[in-house]
Amino acid sequence: MDFRTQIASFDALAGINADALILVLVGEELPAGIDPVVAALVKDAIKLGDFELKAGKVLSLQRAEGVKAPRLVLAAAGKATLKSARAAFQAALAQLKGRGAAHAATAFVGFEAMTDSLAEQFVLAAGDATYVYRHTKPSAPAEGKLQKLTLVLNKSEEGAAKAAKSGLTRGQAIGAGIELARECANRPGNYATPTYLGEQVKALGSSHGLKVEILDRKAVEKLGMGSFLSVAQGSDEPLRFIVARYDGAPKTQAPVVLVGKGITFDSGGISLKPGAEMDEMKFDMGGAASVIGTLRAVAELKPKLNLVVLIAACENMPSGRALKPGDVVTSMSGQTIEILNTDAEGRLVLCDALTYAERFKPAVVVDVATLTGACVIALGGVRSGMYASDDELAAALSAAGDAALDPCWRMPLDEEYDEGLKTNFADVANVGSRAGGSITAAKFLQRFAGKFRWGHLDIAGTAWKGGAAKGGTGRPVGLLTHFVLSQAK
Ligand code: BES
Ligand code: MN
Ligand code: ZN
Repeated sequence: MDFRTQIASFDALAGINADALILVLVGEELPAGIDPVVAALVKDAIKLGDFELKAGKVLSLQRAEGVKAPRLVLAAAGKATLKSARAAFQAALAQLKGRGAAHAATAFVGFEAMTDSLAEQFVLAAGDATYVYRHTKPSAPAEGKLQKLTLVLNKSEEGAAKAAKSGLTRGQAIGAGIELARECANRPGNYATPTYLGEQVKALGSSHGLKVEILDRKAVEKLGMGSFLSVAQGSDEPLRFIVARYDGAPKTQAPVVLVGKGITFDSGGISLKPGAEMDEMKFDMGGAASVIGTLRAVAELKPKLNLVVLIAACENMPSGRALKPGDVVTSMSGQTIEILNTDAEGRLVLCDALTYAERFKPAVVVDVATLTGACVIALGGVRSGMYASDDELAAALSAAGDAALDPCWRMPLDEEYDEGLKTNFADVANVGSRAGGSITAAKFLQRFAGKFRWGHLDIAGTAWKGGAAKGGTGRPVGLLTHFVLSQAK
């Protein structure tokens, strides 16, 4: 998609030259000073009962009189928020889906100002609307004719061009990261293997000048990652531990470290999952996909900071060699872990990755994982679960999520939640009781994150959608990219 800006007078929008003109209208009344041709059309549509200035309403017109563009799409946003503006623009794009317009110009009318966030969401909404998965379905409907999107800026508004430019740049980088994350997540487990994830990161390394190291089982054994290895041992598919570095600041500057759960298929292992919807466990590498996407966005935006991305990737399968309930394994940290449920495998691969992160003397470590069904029950698909070792980090993650329209919600880490992880046979058990399952999983991880500032995102509810719209969402690439950018000095 080609994104541009154009400066125009908002009192002469009808003269804009494009295959389609999209007007996102904010507020319950038409803003003063808007193009009289457009104003008359909107008033007439309202009078006919075809349109209302209420969030969610859209109207598509062809060859409207006095309008140069052959297609006019009106989309009401209601409130002047970033979220409602994005939703309205997305509804307008849906009107153009499968139609002939190659170039659409869009004006957000009634907003106080063009902001970099609005320009960013303009790009992201377009990316969302046009992404099509086709790797194993080449017959999927074509992407459509739309190729060029122009963001129309108000001539009378100072600073609009600058805000739009920075927002478009950020949006394009994040959009590319989201697309990469979705593509990795959507590819089936027999395509998106640990080896494939490693190759994706290697390719990113070559295209964006990153240092990439891919560790195989032998190297992981040498490191003593007994917990990670114990999950991988039940599968014939080789594991990978992926290390990538983006260096945007002097070596002396402590890096931000992102850790992704990369279970490319989670059958549950010997604690086998029920059959219904088990296919969705190909998405259990959503954390890995999101840190790969974030790495891509950051490598394109080149902020002045250092970033390390770690991914523990393997399958969780039942077999004659698989981990069994009751087994005790020794993690890289030295802590022994009693496996009470082999389906609680995410924390087992993450704990060793967290210990590995210590060697970077990080400024902060954030792990990202489709970790618990309990988090889906708690927060659904709207907000990711967020845990943080201090309030400042929690505030930064929260703010990043809000700014990116990729929100999270802070969850507690009271020491009482640790109780359930006690066992007679090891330093810690890998599961507690069912109650507070997302929290006890976080408490387990916290034991391996004592040497640095630590954040944890449980994205079990947000990384993918089920049902008819089944597919990876690319979340939380937006949140993570904003967070990483916020850490630049
Ligand atoms: N990958 C799953 C978590 C999951 C489940 C994500 C459903 C999205 C939807 C994870 O490995 C898992 O199986 N967790 C168990 C933990 C339990 C055994 C303590 C769960 O949530 O049931
Ligand atoms: Mn599991
Ligand atoms: Zn899992």
